[in-house]
Amino acid sequence: AARRLTEPYLAGRSVLVTAGPTREYLDPVRFLSNRSSGKMGYALAAAAAEAGAEVTLISGPVTLEPPPGVQQVQVESAQQMCDATLTRTAATDIFIGCAAVADYRPTRPAAQKIKKGSQGLALELERTPDTLEQISKLADKPFMVGFAAETEHLETNARHKLNSKGLDMIAANWIKAGRGFEVDDNALTVLWHGGKVELPMAPKIYLARGLIKLIAEHYHAKDS
Ligand code: CTP
Ligand code: CA
Repeated sequence: AARRLTEPYLAGRSVLVTAGPTREYLDPVRFLSNRSSGKMGYALAAAAAEAGAEVTLISGPVTLEPPPGVQQVQVESAQQMCDATLTRTAATDIFIGCAAVADYRPTRPAAQKIKKGSQGLALELERTPDTLEQISKLADKPFMVGFAAETEHLETNARHKLNSKGLDMIAANWIKAGRGFEVDDNALTVLWHGGKVELPMAPKIYLARGLIKLIAEHYHAKDS
């Protein structure tokens, strides 16, 4: 018999993960985006599948292959990510928002390539929808897990997001040179209402297994 990598903590449960950056176009050839390789979100999707869950991965543009057994939905903009997520939340037990979503988009994207002039160029931006906030407002919302990447006040900022976005759990990580983005290792401070745990520096796939185990424990405690 094949040896299990993890216990089937999430057998029969559906997990929705967002991953990667979004792109907000200024014109047909240029966009605003966020630094994100998608590695953490893809590792979480893989770990949830290993734990027996039915996994859907809503992904912005990244260069990764979807993990085996995971259904991938590719999107580009924050709006598309939000729409793709909201149509699937009713069938979701656990939502994990790991995407680095652009907070702003050009108010009036140009239909044709913007030609350079001799002067500078000012961009007018508007807010994009916040997927986590929108799901949080639903009456029958899934178990909600968010991420927070911070350059300062890690725990204070993450705890604020835990509360303001109506989350069950948030995974916070520092953005420092060689940490967080586009690297294979990371460390997470995981916070929930009334508790926290540190997941020490490790390859993202091991970290993802640790986080999925923690999510499963809290999900089952809330569900029972
Ligand atoms: N998020 C989202 N939709 C957005 C922005 C963020 O779903 N438009 C989610 C992210 O996937 C993450 C969480 O919200 O799980 C926190 O994202 P973050 O950028 O840290 O928080 P913001 O609320 O956007 O606050 P700020 O960027 O000002 O720190
Ligand atoms: Ca943001």
